Amino acid sequence: MNQITIKGGHPIKGSIEASGAKNAVLPILAATIVGQGESHISRVPHLHDVTTMNELLAHMGAQLTVDHHADISICTDNLKNQTAPYETVKTMRASILALGPLVARYGRAKVSLPGGCAIGARPVDLHIKGLQAMGAKIKVEDGYILASCDRLHGNRIVMDKVTVTGTENILIAATLAQGETLIENAAIEPEVVDLAKYLKAMGADIKGEGTSKIYIQGKDQLQGTHHAVMPDRIEIGTFLVAAAITGGSITINNSCNDDLDAVYDKLTESGAIISTTENSVSLNMHGKRPNPVDIRTAPHPAFPTDMQAQFCALNSIADGSSHITETLFENRFMHVEELNRMGANIHVEGNQAIIKGVEQLSGAPVTATDLRASASLVLAGLAANGSTAVHDIHYIDRGYESIEEKLNQLGAKIVRS
Ligand code: EPZ
Repeated sequence: MNQITIKGGHPIKGSIEASGAKNAVLPILAATIVGQGESHISRVPHLHDVTTMNELLAHMGAQLTVDHHADISICTDNLKNQTAPYETVKTMRASILALGPLVARYGRAKVSLPGGCAIGARPVDLHIKGLQAMGAKIKVEDGYILASCDRLHGNRIVMDKVTVTGTENILIAATLAQGETLIENAAIEPEVVDLAKYLKAMGADIKGEGTSKIYIQGKDQLQGTHHAVMPDRIEIGTFLVAAAITGGSITINNSCNDDLDAVYDKLTESGAIISTTENSVSLNMHGKRPNPVDIRTAPHPAFPTDMQAQFCALNSIADGSSHITETLFENRFMHVEELNRMGANIHVEGNQAIIKGVEQLSGAPVTATDLRASASLVLAGLAANGSTAVHDIHYIDRGYESIEEKLNQLGAKIVRS
């Protein structure tokens, strides 16, 4: 069951509901470590990465139940160990998010270095530097980060680079530190804001989330609480592109429109008609071939890197040439060679993809290399003439809930085998 076969040429039409955000629920689950008593997390997407995070927390000794909606009840009191083993961390880099909360609540942590991943080196030096600035004693040996501290103290921490999980690790840790912490050059992604919302509901004193300066007044303890995870803006963007690339139309309910301005602007520029209500978004391509759009990825609120591969697919059939520049990760064009196997005409020079749109892609066997690359191959398969078999499709299950079921509800012809 590690491949899907897509019969192309069927326009996406209909409506779906957006799932909870992968990149919000992962830091929120890690943050349950700093709360006493039980937390109940709802609108949890049914994803492989969420299962991995649940297994990691259970491995530490958390009491955790998952109901039939995938909602999670969790208590992290009396964790029997504060370790995130290599076997877990190597499959999901976001395990690094356990580091800050473990040191903050339990005074120690042993977390495997994540190592690189397909899209880049993915260092965690800024996570470590921030916790050291708060008094954590940290050494790295045998591939593990060993951290300890009786109690973290607040500090002014200037992030050398904008890092979402780096900001999140330090934010969570600071909620239990002695005194005030100021994080400067903080990530302003909506998922950071959703994490702060959960922490504040637990009693944390946080100001400035969603800006580049976050102030945290540490508390002695926080109480577990209920939190409904924000919608997944990248899932929403991906499904909008699915309708655009097939000349179709879609309505997505439970959308987070304020977080997707840059994506909506580029879809409008590609010729799509977009309309929104308070919590839904609709796109209609009216059967047209997309216009080419130039993209430059950058931290929020600019165009998100997690939508770059999807727009490579859209631009590959556009009526003209386009440039896509990837500024965050050093190796995030691995979908390009696979798209070219389907007849795309894309040339990569450094951190830029130069795309000459073709009339029609041809179905072909292709192989996924990472989460968003696999999404771009599925999108290309929807538009291609003939069948596309996407191998190593397990990557897509890390970030998209039942993607073939949702797409088949919208008129796609996809079979998993
Ligand atoms: C988050 O990763 C997301 N993951 C990524 O989504 C997303 O692509 C990325 O933010 C950018 O928006 C989660 O939120 C779980 P980084 P994050 O590695 O914060 C440099 C997806 O597809 N850096 O911090 O872990 C790094 O080299 C995933 O859903 C350091 O130099 O991203 C890169 O250039 C992929 N030192 C930049 O920061 C550090 O200590 C951001 O990369 C940390 C990061």
